Amino acid sequence: EDPSTLPERPPIVTIMGHVDHGKTTMLDWLRRSSVAAQEHGGITQHIGAFSVKLSSGKQITFLDTPGHAAFLTMRQRGANVTDIVILVVAADDSVKPQTLEALKHARAANVPIIVAINKIDKDEARVDQVKADLARHGVEIEDYGGDVQVACVSGKTGEGMDSLEENILTLSEILDVRADPGGLAEGWVLESSVKSQGRSASVLVKRGTMRKGDIVAAGTAWAKIRTLRNEAGMEVDEAPPGMPVEVLGWRELPDAGDEVLQAPNEARVREAINYRIELKSHEKAASEQE
Ligand code: GTP
Ligand code: NA
Ligand code: MG
Repeated sequence: EDPSTLPERPPIVTIMGHVDHGKTTMLDWLRRSSVAAQEHGGITQHIGAFSVKLSSGKQITFLDTPGHAAFLTMRQRGANVTDIVILVVAADDSVKPQTLEALKHARAANVPIIVAINKIDKDEARVDQVKADLARHGVEIEDYGGDVQVACVSGKTGEGMDSLEENILTLSEILDVRADPGGLAEGWVLESSVKSQGRSASVLVKRGTMRKGDIVAAGTAWAKIRTLRNEAGMEVDEAPPGMPVEVLGWRELPDAGDEVLQAPNEARVREAINYRIELKSHEKAASEQE
């Protein structure tokens, strides 16, 4: 099958950067313009990710900060959950150790970056200095003839945030992010916890469509999906690629970073899980012998 004929899916974006450079402030600003906030009066659930619908109708999915842990686990397993990294650099503080750390992670995961120079509303903002510092660290920004887009923003006032969103869409068009909404669903656990309604996992669907009643496995845990909820806490019947959802109905709590795979039936999922449990106990026995 020709992948270029598959439907587009929302790009998945992670915000990284040095401490206090404004990651949470930017996410909060974006969250306020999220699909859920627009459609349900601003009350959003924390499910590790949220979707922003642009005026063009296109969507972008942002991973929340706790999604970071899952991002790192998944990268250690050689998988990329994110399509794009937004590297936040405060205009009054410029490049710092964790900026370089984030850059290193993005490069190791082979994920393209967009630079967001934040806090441009401040008197101390020195945008040109930040650009020069980034270039000095090998970031090929567009101002210096490279292809890394730079957005100058304020997460506080919202200035420049629309052009950041445009930058994301431009890059995702180049990356051509598409996914098959058919076939058995696949995704990633972003976070998991026990709630009053039972064991809950937020899942980012990567391929296929996750539906109520589906049987899915994640590590040695499995679920017959009882309830799917979007970021507004509203029940939904299905989740297409790129959509984060809360999944209820787990027999055991899965771990953040686990891959979620739909199984055709309960017998198959039990078989797969028994195999994984056996594998784990063999690995444990082998490591105890050392
Ligand atoms: P950590 O999660 O601790 O690494 O920090 P962070 O990157 O999430 O930064 P956070 O959003 O918490 O912002 C740190 C401080 O900078 C807070 O006091 C924010 O109000 C402030 N801040 C963030 N963005 C802006 C901005 O665009 N302009 C101004 N003036 N202040 C900002
Ligand atoms: Na902070
Ligand atoms: Mg923060």
